Amino acid sequence: MKTIDDLDVAGKRVFVRADLNVPLKGDTITDDGRIRAVAPTIAKLLERGAKVVVASHLGRPKGEPDPQFSLAPVAVRLGEILGTPVAFATDTVGDSAKATVAALGDGEVTLLENLRFNAGETSKDDAERGAFADQLAALADLYVGDGFGAVHRKHASVFDLPARLPHAAGLLIEKELGVLKRLTEDVARPYVVVLGGSKVSDKVGVIENLLGKADRILIGGGMMFTFLAAQGHSVGASLLQEDQIPVAQDYLARGKEAGVEFVIPVDTAVAGSFPDLKGGTPAEGFEVVGVEAIPDGKLGLDIGPETARLFAEKLADAATVFWNGPMGVFEHPQFADGTRAVAQALLDSKAFTVVGGGDSAAAVRILGFDENKFGHISTGGGASLEYLEGKTLPGIAALEG
Ligand code: 3PG
Repeated sequence: MKTIDDLDVAGKRVFVRADLNVPLKGDTITDDGRIRAVAPTIAKLLERGAKVVVASHLGRPKGEPDPQFSLAPVAVRLGEILGTPVAFATDTVGDSAKATVAALGDGEVTLLENLRFNAGETSKDDAERGAFADQLAALADLYVGDGFGAVHRKHASVFDLPARLPHAAGLLIEKELGVLKRLTEDVARPYVVVLGGSKVSDKVGVIENLLGKADRILIGGGMMFTFLAAQGHSVGASLLQEDQIPVAQDYLARGKEAGVEFVIPVDTAVAGSFPDLKGGTPAEGFEVVGVEAIPDGKLGLDIGPETARLFAEKLADAATVFWNGPMGVFEHPQFADGTRAVAQALLDSKAFTVVGGGDSAAAVRILGFDENKFGHISTGGGASLEYLEGKTLPGIAALEG
């Protein structure tokens, strides 16, 4: 795979596919990690006299302009981080994009509007995606893929565009792939994986793959209730994927055979209803209960303190840790303790620690941890999981081609 050092970029229009899909509250960016992560690539290209055209998706608009998903606030923040103005094009391949790109001088940068405002970006139809990729290709001479968080998407700007332009991987993709290799080749043991988030079904592929690789798998987040149900517990009104109960049972049985220890929560913080995240008012009916005593009608929203201690113990001697998915509804102060405890346990261990995923990465920063103290905070949630599942990632395959 070529890197940006292999490209002669001076005076050329360089299209940088970034993943600037950051969490927003109105116009306010609540975590700018993904913007900071791609900035070194853009800065290096600018330093070398390129005309840089940055493009990304944000959220999941339906193939047409939708102001709530505009990248305009991201252009402002990107400019602050780079210390240089970022011209913002109000469309993707229309008059604004063409004019903004044409006006770029050497060492100047523009950000296009959300790529997903054009239906061609995410289309399943190769011809429709290809037509959009042709329009994007007309805006540039070279392509740099650096949107690691989106490399698992077979989208026009990720997969089809690099086939149309000389291309290379950016610094972020290089770094992310280097880290993920450390988790798959010659991993230092004990290798402990912490999985959270809401659904077992999202993690099926990765658990399947980890059964042959990890030494311990710690299960938290909403998906823990399906595992608890698989162990025969009643989970009250907690999130439950009934169709995944047999899958969880199968994992527990196969884990035993393969010598992979599954660690399932022993207590949980529950409430009578889903709490108000905006106001942060105390959750009605809050209590901590053992997993054998989850009241009917109440829902579990975090791992409990006993589980947090147990998880910390299971992480203490790890040599490698991969963590994907928050332990609970960390956006509410009463349900943030589990996620905070896991983050702290990672910091306390001597392991090489990798935090994978938009949500867990954002959680670490939002809860006030120093991200530099972790081995690596990945910008890719789905992307890093799919890599660990052993799948071919379209955006990586395209850069290798
Ligand atoms: C992410 O947030 O995981 C990436 O930006 C990909 O977004 P998507 O799941 O909407 O394709």
